[in-house]
Amino acid sequence: MRLAVLASGRGSNLQAILDAIAQGRLEARVAAVFSDRAKAGALERARAARIPAESLKPGDFPTREAFDESLFSRIAAVHPDLIVCAGYMRLLGAPQVEAWAGRMINIHPSLLPAFKGLRTHEQALAAGVAVHGASVHFVTCELDGGPVIAQASVPVLPGDDATALAARVLEREHPLLVATLRLFAQGRVALGADGVHVDGRRLQAPLQLGGDLREAAA
Ligand code: GRF
Repeated sequence: MRLAVLASGRGSNLQAILDAIAQGRLEARVAAVFSDRAKAGALERARAARIPAESLKPGDFPTREAFDESLFSRIAAVHPDLIVCAGYMRLLGAPQVEAWAGRMINIHPSLLPAFKGLRTHEQALAAGVAVHGASVHFVTCELDGGPVIAQASVPVLPGDDATALAARVLEREHPLLVATLRLFAQGRVALGADGVHVDGRRLQAPLQLGGDLREAAA
């Protein structure tokens, strides 16, 4: 399975993918990493692993559409089986989202459909929920609104601030993303007209890491 990874920031999810591949826990290859930020730590991590890494600056393009066209023509050129948005902080254009429907996923730090958008840990704390977490979902034109494949939950503990909660969630994001990618590598997941299909059956609810979604043993 060839992956193209999009990332805007530090790239710890990218690193989790690279480590899982290096350790034989994920049968995949990261074909290239793309970023909208030249200084993204994800680019350095990719280069350290000798993976082609490229950044495109949105300000260099006349329109949002021109940026997306250029980005996605570069992505298409590496022939990915799956595009993984791992902390990619820009909205994606509708033509590109539609062209890659069922072949593009995103990891989002909340138990979707709760807390879409930004500052999800602050949102969770403000709402007073007892359980928070992360979701991997197919990308559709609705922001953080595509069908959810799998989730990982963590407790919200007394005294948590957004930083503490974010760290607890991030620790589970990494195994969640790797376990979900293993399903893709095994050809077990597909996007159907009626939602997510796993092993040919429509999911009634997202898979749960540590429950019906097993962690890849280290
Ligand atoms: C993660 O919390 C991810 O869920 C969100 O952005 C953050 C990216 O972290 N979409 P990293 O760059 O992978 O370390």
